[in-house]
Amino acid sequence: MSQRSPLAQLGCCYYPEQWSDSLWKDDARRMVDLGMSIVRIGEFSWSRLEPAPGELNWDWLDRAINTLGDAGLKVVLGTPTATPPRWMLHKHPNMLALDINGQPRKFGSRRHYCFSYTPYHDESKRIASLMAERYAQHPALIGWQLDNEYGCHDTIRSYSTSALKAFRVFLAQRYSTISALNEAWGNIFWSMEYQDFDDIELPNQTVTEANPSHWLDFYRFSSEQVVRFNRIQAEAIKGLSDKPLIHNYMGRITEFDHYPLGEDLDIASWDTYPLGFLVDRSGTDSAWQKRFERQGDPDLQAFHHDLYRTVGRGRWWVMEQQPGPVNWAPNNPAPLPGMVAFWTWEAIAHQAEAVCYFRWRQAPFAQEQMHAGIMRPDNQPATAYTEVLETSKRIASVGALEFAQAEIALVFDYESCWAWEAQPQGENMSGFGLALDFYRALRRLGLNVDIVAPSANLSGYKVVFAPGLFTWSSSLLKAIGQSQAVFVLGPRTGSKTKDFQIPQALPPNIAGFDCKVTHVESFARGNERAWASDLNNDTATSGSKEKLSGQAQEKLSGQAQYWLEHCEVGPDIEVCATLEDGTPTHFRQNNIHYLAAWPDAVALLNLVKGVVSEAGIDVVELPEGVRRRVSTTKEFLFNYNAFAVELDDQLLNSASVTIRDRV
Ligand code: GAL
Repeated sequence: MSQRSPLAQLGCCYYPEQWSDSLWKDDARRMVDLGMSIVRIGEFSWSRLEPAPGELNWDWLDRAINTLGDAGLKVVLGTPTATPPRWMLHKHPNMLALDINGQPRKFGSRRHYCFSYTPYHDESKRIASLMAERYAQHPALIGWQLDNEYGCHDTIRSYSTSALKAFRVFLAQRYSTISALNEAWGNIFWSMEYQDFDDIELPNQTVTEANPSHWLDFYRFSSEQVVRFNRIQAEAIKGLSDKPLIHNYMGRITEFDHYPLGEDLDIASWDTYPLGFLVDRSGTDSAWQKRFERQGDPDLQAFHHDLYRTVGRGRWWVMEQQPGPVNWAPNNPAPLPGMVAFWTWEAIAHQAEAVCYFRWRQAPFAQEQMHAGIMRPDNQPATAYTEVLETSKRIASVGALEFAQAEIALVFDYESCWAWEAQPQGENMSGFGLALDFYRALRRLGLNVDIVAPSANLSGYKVVFAPGLFTWSSSLLKAIGQSQAVFVLGPRTGSKTKDFQIPQALPPNIAGFDCKVTHVESFARGNERAWASDLNNDTATSGSKEKLSGQAQEKLSGQAQYWLEHCEVGPDIEVCATLEDGTPTHFRQNNIHYLAAWPDAVALLNLVKGVVSEAGIDVVELPEGVRRRVSTTKEFLFNYNAFAVELDDQLLNSASVTIRDRV
């Protein structure tokens, strides 16, 4: 089934309250001149909207929205709940979140609230309702942004008294009886048995590690608190306005489950900072970071584009994109010329309906004064200005796009990320990192990928990857049993029960797949183990294994990194690959493949290529640093390299996007 996307729109994040109102009209005119049609405002303006409790000042916001609307712009209005003003703390001294060491997260920046503090739920519902009552019918309003970046600055998990009380209620609801909880958590271990739900503390500040089941339930609880907080605002606004509700998610934030939260909203959006994320969020080494220092990681943005398309049930935007250096990464290089347009196109090629830049004009004051805007602080165009202008023209010339469901699904599960976090069993273990590695391999092969939840309807996919899914969902098990698709599982898939215990049948714990993981080991970066070439996979090794020297063969075959599982298998299991020491790493039975190791990039590329080619999917092996996405009629080629690359007799210029008709 294909889906036609409307012509992508451009926009920006604007803070009228931070500038003299004499600038607003000209700002709006210039936004329109640049080809922008959307402006997001309001999300940090609470101290101006309500300077003192109950004293509301709408005048400036009325005038700002009118000015922007009169210029022809459509407004996304943000609820200001990420920045409760100072008076709120006088009114609610217990509203602050506490960090893992029990220290308050104080006023003086933003996001200083605890999701479990219910009087703040009432405050946020009140301000959201007041805004909706006032602006729901405004002709310039195009949508609502609820709060700002849940999870930014490590703010999901709070160790406050409010959190503790709510956690006990959560546990009582989940387990009904304290003996059921003791059983589920295995609290006979170390005499940790409880007599009452009120005896249970939060899992921080224990002498040595707390029980992983205790952590996992705390992570589940913390995620639910965010979903509940968001739902209160969503319901309040929905009762008053029919405009779409949006949240701006972030990159590599896994502390709350985005899928249920997204169900309460109409559009997903995310804030993409490709250079800001490269060092801390891409999980790559220093050589890679040097190579892509001014372009950003070639896969991290696209991974989130594909993830948030699902979270938004097909509708998604970029709400913030960096237009130049940011101020918050370890170092803050400038994007290579062309990258602001490049990132915009990559989002559009992944079906974004809109791309907005953060921010219109660089602020000369406060925390983000070193963060670039489209305009400089002296109100002259900054370097991104012309790229935005050119992009808006090119969008019109490329026209609307139509997209088909991908042939490949990659299952991504937040709860699994928490399980990995609760018990990593090795220093490099990360559920997100494993999923991203699979995604990278698929992208190297030029494939469109849909990232989906474990409960997704998987019909229409030819190959489904579900690595690292810690426990089975009944819908996924059913899909495996009934579907014609090929499933690639492991490592660690099915390794725990819902209660975080090792399943009686041993992992991967799937009927009809005659394999048991009997023991596992993890090892440090640098201690990788050589992967022998796949035994039954001619495509993967290009048939040239015997001609290669030992060294070259190792390079071709790759290595197992971080994690290895040792398995006992039945006679119907085919061993598809082994390590050089003979340890089997890749098993297959019927439509299931199981990987008993975390393959490095080379091994994973070979393996993925073998599996998808066998499933009848065409691959285009791209040069490193080049990525591709296709619509039904167009092919987008993204050369992330700072040098030109040739592909199919076509020269792809450095740091550039090539858009061509599909043949
Ligand atoms: C985002 C945030 C914005 C701004 C921006 C700076 O995470 O939503 O308000 O702080 O980062 O890069």
